[in-house]
Amino acid sequence: MLLDVLVLAAGKGTRMRSELPKVLHPLAGKPLLAHVFNSVATFDNAAINTIVGHGKDLIQEAFADQPLNWVEQTSQLGTAHAVLQAIPAIRDDAKVLIVYGDVPLIKSSTLEKMIGGVDNDAMALLTVELADPTGYGRILRNKEGEVTGIIEQKDATPEQLTITEVNTGVMAMTAVDLKIWLPKIDNKNAQQEYYLTDVIGLAREAGRRINTYAPEAVEEVEGVNSRAQLVALERYYQHQVAQQLLDSGVTVMDPSRFDCRGELSTGQDVVIDINCIFEGTNQIGNGVNIGPNCVIKDATIGDNVTIKANTVIEGPVTLEDDVQVGPFARLRPHTVLGQGAKVGNFVETKKADIGPGSKISHLSYVGDAKLGSHVNVGAGTITCNYDGVNKHLTEIDDGAFIGSNTSLVAPVTVGKNATVGAGSTISRSVPDDSLAIARGKQRTLDSWKRPEKN
Ligand code: UD1
Ligand code: CA
Repeated sequence: MLLDVLVLAAGKGTRMRSELPKVLHPLAGKPLLAHVFNSVATFDNAAINTIVGHGKDLIQEAFADQPLNWVEQTSQLGTAHAVLQAIPAIRDDAKVLIVYGDVPLIKSSTLEKMIGGVDNDAMALLTVELADPTGYGRILRNKEGEVTGIIEQKDATPEQLTITEVNTGVMAMTAVDLKIWLPKIDNKNAQQEYYLTDVIGLAREAGRRINTYAPEAVEEVEGVNSRAQLVALERYYQHQVAQQLLDSGVTVMDPSRFDCRGELSTGQDVVIDINCIFEGTNQIGNGVNIGPNCVIKDATIGDNVTIKANTVIEGPVTLEDDVQVGPFARLRPHTVLGQGAKVGNFVETKKADIGPGSKISHLSYVGDAKLGSHVNVGAGTITCNYDGVNKHLTEIDDGAFIGSNTSLVAPVTVGKNATVGAGSTISRSVPDDSLAIARGKQRTLDSWKRPEKN
């Protein structure tokens, strides 16, 4: 059967105190709304309609590359009014699933169960037991345990306020039912809003069963109204990811100091020390050791790689097996380190293809460079890749040795097994097996006395 998903996202999010629309605030590196879209994207024959109002342009722009329908709600008169705006977009022969754009961690499995609970005689409602139900709509049930209504906090009697089963806001019904019920909802209540929760009473009148479902965890249905709630959900999410990694053979030294903002796949016997951040898409092999305080983005990492403390990787970057990086290294886009290569402290690389077994151990900049295998680059070596207008390539062949404090003025080539003397400025190519030295000759004055202070 067809499924029309309605994502409610027109609210202002006043309590975020932000210029950014609430649903664009990131959780695990992605907008809240993107999480909701991901959860519903798994359903076949589904069309996603998002109801937007505040920050509409920014929201639409953020998802411009996706096949989504946008429905505008110009003034926010309540959740039923929001859904009403989408009625023309809803297909008559569909089931309708209503979710909130600011409830990011809702699971597809929970929604799937609910959709299964909808037919011509029944609608589905997601409820949850909360120790502190303050602010939520309370679920009213009769003696038989059937749901008879939802009463909002502001409209509830003191007795109703003691009910701990609350409305999550997520519900599903047939399009036919919804289209009949919605126009009947008025705003005669404490907030003078059109309450979507009033559909429950109308469903009862129509003789529909109300099937209720519960999420696996409360966090699944927790909304983000404030930054405090946002970071609390972030920690919950990160803890879940860390737990999955632990289960799969990765030692996450401290799950409360671990952040994955994207996709991370790992082999076995990987150790991740504290305060590491993984962004984008990272693939990590077996036996990899990652020291504390590393930021790793879009990296493909082979087996038995060691990344020492405070290394920053801005991919796309590829590290083949047995590579060693850091501490304090910065690998920028299009760095490839061949098997067993080593990049040490205070080394920056960019567009650098560094062959197997090559070493850049200390204090260097290697950019727009192609290094063969077993090249040794001494401390303080700089590839001068930029002439102020264009970038040029430095090529260093297998087995070459670059002495410390060398400037390689690109375009330039250093041949196979060639040697460059320390302190050289190399601006002409160096043939294979040769020695190039380009530095001022040393003069030594015997018995020279320093001037004395007057
Ligand atoms: C709503 C429910 C309440 C439930 C709670 C769960 C109603 C009347 N109440 O209350 O029973 O316990 O959610 O969080 O439905 N929105 C619009 N347009 C509007 C109003 C809201 O798009 O005119 C969107 C908001 O952006 C938000 C969602 O709907 O994503 C919920 O709105 P909110 O004002 O937070 O509803 P609550 O009063 O919390
Ligand atoms: Ca809310």
